[in-house]
Amino acid sequence: MDSSVYIDHNATTPPLPEVISAVCSAMGLTGANPSSVHANGRAARKLIDDARCSIATLVGAMEDQVVFTSGGSESNNTVIIGAGRRRVLVSPTEHAAVLKTVLTRTGDSDLVPVDKDGLVDLEALEALLAEDEEPALVCIMAANNETGVLQPMAEISDLAHRHGALVHCDAVQAVGKIPVDIMAWGVDFLALSGHKIGGPQGIGALVRCTNSPLDSLITGGGQERGLRAGTENVAAISGLGVAGRIAAETLVDKSTRLKGYRDALETGIKALSPATTIFCEDVPRLPNTSNFTLPGIRSDKQLMTLDLAGVSVSAGSACSAGKVEPSHVLDSMDVDPDISTTALRASFGWSSEETDVERFLDAWGDLTRRQSSGNMKAISK
Ligand SMILES: Cc1ncc(COP(=O)(O)O)c(C=O)c1O
Repeated sequence: MDSSVYIDHNATTPPLPEVISAVCSAMGLTGANPSSVHANGRAARKLIDDARCSIATLVGAMEDQVVFTSGGSESNNTVIIGAGRRRVLVSPTEHAAVLKTVLTRTGDSDLVPVDKDGLVDLEALEALLAEDEEPALVCIMAANNETGVLQPMAEISDLAHRHGALVHCDAVQAVGKIPVDIMAWGVDFLALSGHKIGGPQGIGALVRCTNSPLDSLITGGGQERGLRAGTENVAAISGLGVAGRIAAETLVDKSTRLKGYRDALETGIKALSPATTIFCEDVPRLPNTSNFTLPGIRSDKQLMTLDLAGVSVSAGSACSAGKVEPSHVLDSMDVDPDISTTALRASFGWSSEETDVERFLDAWGDLTRRQSSGNMKAISK
């Protein structure tokens, strides 16, 4: 039996057993191009139709508003590049799939400031919208992948629409963790991803809730009503549909259970290290996510020690080539780099169990004890 503890669901979720079965069964269809009119093709088309229905239900959309893509990155890119808005207003805490695309692929962009919790400054957004001579595209994520902080999407859409702007919401981390309702949020476009909801990697959807024009990123055949050319990945779409249906059915129970684990973990880390900071603790955030620090010990060193103990979490900072850089999210929240480079992110998901919290606290407790006994030199440098 695998004895490792996986608390990194915001990075990717293990596929649900029902998803694995659906993918295998769809791959077993013979000669099934969903554009073919013969029986095999119709069987493949039926799988896609069913998946479209599940994903539409999950986010409160109509089936014809759902476009299957290769994932969150492609959905975000399609809107940012294809919505035809030259000016884009974006929060500095967005995932790179949005932030980098806006900064490198659009004509004119402005960063919308955030406060110390990473919440968008609505007055600053309004001022930026007011100085706009042409209607903009506003790109704000529903839930942050690092801190879990939730943006007030309905207020943002309302503000943006009063100035003729369109709103694109990266809901990759929100879907399956909190209720998502495109009508209540009033967004024009929304991105979601299979591998964050127990579905396959490399599949996702773009939900287009407006009649405003949108150019396809990939041109060719007329699949997905001309919004995404290429023969559909039937097996992955089918798996996404199953994941979406289960996400809708289990949302309430799962959120309550995961919030319990998250809260127990935070109570435990505060007891072990009173100097810890838990980011966004007092504002609305995802029930499964915690981003916290262990002052004095770099994130990569903590990760290594936890990994040796069989516990997988993520650094709350960007580690590459032996260097730890503050995360752009914590940086935008004005967190001191000495603190942000010691941040970790724990994110629970469908496969999490109560014992995962105990295993994490045992391993992290060792770190804090070694630190306070002065045995931490080797790992704090
Ligand atoms: C908030 C957010 N947006 C977009 C993405 C990219 O999604 P995908 O991996 O499906 O391309 C991620 C993945 O980590 C994410 O967390």
